[in-house]
Amino acid sequence: MTRTWQAAPSVGHPLTRVEGLDKVTGRARYAADVALPGLVYGWVVPATIPRGRVLGLDVAATLAMPGVLAVLHEHNAPRLTDIGEGTLFLFQNDRVAHRGAPVALVIADTPERAREAAERTAVDYLPEPHDARFRADHPDLFTPDHVNPRNPTTTEKGDVDAAIAGAAVVVDREYRTAPQHNNAMEPHSATAVWADGRVTLYTATQYAYAITPTLTRLFGLESGTVRVLSEHVGGGFGNKGAPPRPDAVLAVMAANLVGRPVRVTLTRPHLFPLTGYRTPTAQRVRIGAGEDGRLVALEHLASMQTSRLVEFTEQTAIYSRAMYAADNLRTSHRVVALDVPAPRWMRAPGEAPGSFGLESAMDELAEACGVDPVELRLRNDTQTEPASGQPFSSRRLAECLREGARRFGWADRDPRPAVRRDGRWWRGTGVAGAHYPARTAPTTAHATALPSGDYLVRVAATDIGTGSRTALTQLAADALEVPVTAVRVLIGDSDFGPAMGAGGSMGTASWSWPVVTACRDLAHRVASGESIPPDGLTSTFDSTDAVGARRELSRYAFGAHFAEVAVDVATGEVRVPRLTGVYAVGRVVNPLTARSQLVGGMTMGLSCALLEESIMDARFGDFVNHNLADYHVATNADVGEIDVAFVDDPDDELNPSGVKGLGEIGIVGVPAAIANAVWHATGVRQRALPIGPARAIISGQ
Ligand code: MOS
Repeated sequence: MTRTWQAAPSVGHPLTRVEGLDKVTGRARYAADVALPGLVYGWVVPATIPRGRVLGLDVAATLAMPGVLAVLHEHNAPRLTDIGEGTLFLFQNDRVAHRGAPVALVIADTPERAREAAERTAVDYLPEPHDARFRADHPDLFTPDHVNPRNPTTTEKGDVDAAIAGAAVVVDREYRTAPQHNNAMEPHSATAVWADGRVTLYTATQYAYAITPTLTRLFGLESGTVRVLSEHVGGGFGNKGAPPRPDAVLAVMAANLVGRPVRVTLTRPHLFPLTGYRTPTAQRVRIGAGEDGRLVALEHLASMQTSRLVEFTEQTAIYSRAMYAADNLRTSHRVVALDVPAPRWMRAPGEAPGSFGLESAMDELAEACGVDPVELRLRNDTQTEPASGQPFSSRRLAECLREGARRFGWADRDPRPAVRRDGRWWRGTGVAGAHYPARTAPTTAHATALPSGDYLVRVAATDIGTGSRTALTQLAADALEVPVTAVRVLIGDSDFGPAMGAGGSMGTASWSWPVVTACRDLAHRVASGESIPPDGLTSTFDSTDAVGARRELSRYAFGAHFAEVAVDVATGEVRVPRLTGVYAVGRVVNPLTARSQLVGGMTMGLSCALLEESIMDARFGDFVNHNLADYHVATNADVGEIDVAFVDDPDDELNPSGVKGLGEIGIVGVPAAIANAVWHATGVRQRALPIGPARAIISGQ
């Protein structure tokens, strides 16, 4: 066997997706595609009341329907351990915590027959009075112990009230953002198969490993009993995150009950109440500044909703902890528990709505001071994190703003609003900053040299369409000093060991650490002549200690977004012919897939600014537009030219690959950049999202 070493690095090259051919030819199997002998299908019976009790259901009638094998409900479901995840504590009592919560699961031999029987299952309820209406002044708002994922609820520095009282210029405004649903293209699906004392779950998750301990504890199983496979996942945006969603629990329960493999696939309307959404927010932002626009005080207070099932508090105001310098700084959160579905993560949870508040208020400050909005942000730039006082590992916000201004053509901008009329369109431009934390989590990976001369890398990563499998292949190939064609990266199997999921923009930053380290070690062993046994020579690395040994620094990716809008003078329709995004996101492993992530993030930001809104009908406690016809997601026709660029951001303190992560920063700040451009076009401030057509020509309040 000969090994040809080559030095040409793959990192930095636009390699197309390594599984691309499998995907376009249909060879790639998603969770609901996996064929299994004896497979049967579960269908959810959702509650039709927002709050109350299940008195009973007509099980006999459902069992008599064609093809029905069983009905899973409160009285025959396995007893679960209460692990503090109310959304997963299914069929353990008679309570209905929100409309759409599962009250039973019908299992039948085909999905059609399961659906028919589930929809015809009669349920008796005892309804109770409910409250599903979020208000910024809700009397039950309270201050939670922490905000997601483990951030303090409140930060306080200096004396904000005194500083604002003495400030030359004050901006004091309220901003609102609508609830939104992630709406990944692939719906949730879980298939559970018991064999040899273990349960294998084929499921659409961002967290192939991390959901296994949760399921193990919930079902009171021996450690190692649950195996999760998620080879291909069709998007997530946080909604296939951890903890697992109810479909996983229902599939395992049902497989126990009928002794056969069971698949539970949710429909689009099921996803709206069952799998999470972005909470609505109400934010108050107060800024005190000098005449020159330099901040002396900043306060950001956010209110959100959660469900009665779980306390899930979005970290909305944390955006203001790390963005602009202010000696006096207060950020805090309040939340109210309502009779509504449980909110969860959605792309840049916290930063996406929080940046709308702060970056909009900064634009109002720029107007009040007569300072250019780019210049205003440069004046308030800082190299230490405002809330903590800690230095940033690297912060190239200023470079992003300057390079963005250059690419976008900002220099000749007339600052006056509502002076650019072009036929039936008002025209304007806007800017916003962006940041997103750059974190890394402990992960284990294995690299194997095979006698054939090829290499196999195994890590319980997930590729939700981002290109992470491809990026890991490039990083592994470079560490092994072999061509990418000699490396096969296997992911999406919890048996590969503990691993971070595809969340928090932490995937590649976390997985690459043990992948690169194990590959370097293996390359060294092979080069020093270690013999390769028939089943291969394997190096394994667990990054736990290495991650824990890093210096305490504030680590973030930064960016700047520029938007051009055209607003129809009569209808208020907002078009966005141009978006520019410039980013400092550490090392870019693959410029092709990285650009796609940012184009996708900016598109989602545009969608969030103009279109996306889950409409809660508080009388019924449910989202009424629970389909892709009534819930509007931006499509090609809504998107103009999107320009993405990177500034150099070498940061070797992060992880061996210098990767900061870029899955989420693309959405941060884009809604504010667009809203600021709408003000510049029309002279009307937009303080509520989505802007929609009408709000663009009337006050956004
Ligand atoms: Mo992302 S919302 O952290 O999966």
